Amino acid sequence: MSDMTALAELTQAADLLTQAKSICILTGAGISAESGIPTFRDKQTGLWENYRAEDLASIDAFERNPQMVWSWYQWRRNLVKDKQPNPAHHALFKLQQWAETEHKTLALITQNVDDLHEQAGSKVTHLHGHLWRNKCSGCDSPYTEPVDYSQDSLLHCPHCEGLIRPDIVWFGEMLPQQEWRYAEHAVNDCDVFISIGTSSLVYPAAGLLQVAKQQGAAIIEVNLNPTQNPLVDVELAGKAGEILPKLVDAL
Ligand code: APR
Repeated sequence: MSDMTALAELTQAADLLTQAKSICILTGAGISAESGIPTFRDKQTGLWENYRAEDLASIDAFERNPQMVWSWYQWRRNLVKDKQPNPAHHALFKLQQWAETEHKTLALITQNVDDLHEQAGSKVTHLHGHLWRNKCSGCDSPYTEPVDYSQDSLLHCPHCEGLIRPDIVWFGEMLPQQEWRYAEHAVNDCDVFISIGTSSLVYPAAGLLQVAKQQGAAIIEVNLNPTQNPLVDVELAGKAGEILPKLVDAL
């Protein structure tokens, strides 16, 4: 894409946001990539390079080999624990503040389990759970004891002795109901939907873009490798950490 096209599209996106009364934003792993957190469909490196994230993040994998799945999450927690929000997260916080001053509704929804949006000051709804929370795989109670991330040993529920697992939505599991209802409502209500750093392969989250389009919203995509989804109206191709600050400055 030439710089001229990029500028025209940035202006078009800024105009859409200025005219909108209600904005809905869905972020994915790509927004945290510039903070140093590998995306899901990146090949894993180091200790876990022979495994695919898709094969570890599932209830089947946990039932087959809870130690392996728990160790992988402890490793991921160590990988993520010192990571900080990047200019994309900061720009979305600014956008939230701008929307508030302009009396617009803005819903920020993420598929990410990290807390970089929160660290940047944003209010965010997590569709796929939280890396830093745990729960019992048996009785579903939250496990609130401190967890030592340098330790791989399996933990047990104080109520039912079930195994403790991360409070993350795995493949084949239902999304948390309250969060999903909030997302559906936000998408049905929005004039502009922005999809940022997501491959839009994993449903039901990926379906939010279609619903937004069907009910008449304009769709903006920010992606380093655009998904080529024909429903996208404005494509902002490039790094979220470079594009989003420019978009916010253009408002
Ligand atoms: N800026 C913008 N986009 C980026 C950047 C960047 N710096 N780096 C990568 N991307 C894009 C990639 O081109 C890709 O389209 O981010 C997307 C990341 O895609 P995935 O790894 O598939 O992540 P995501 O869409 O969030 O995955 C969805 O799948 O594994 C499950 O539950 C897990 O929440 C996850 C869900």
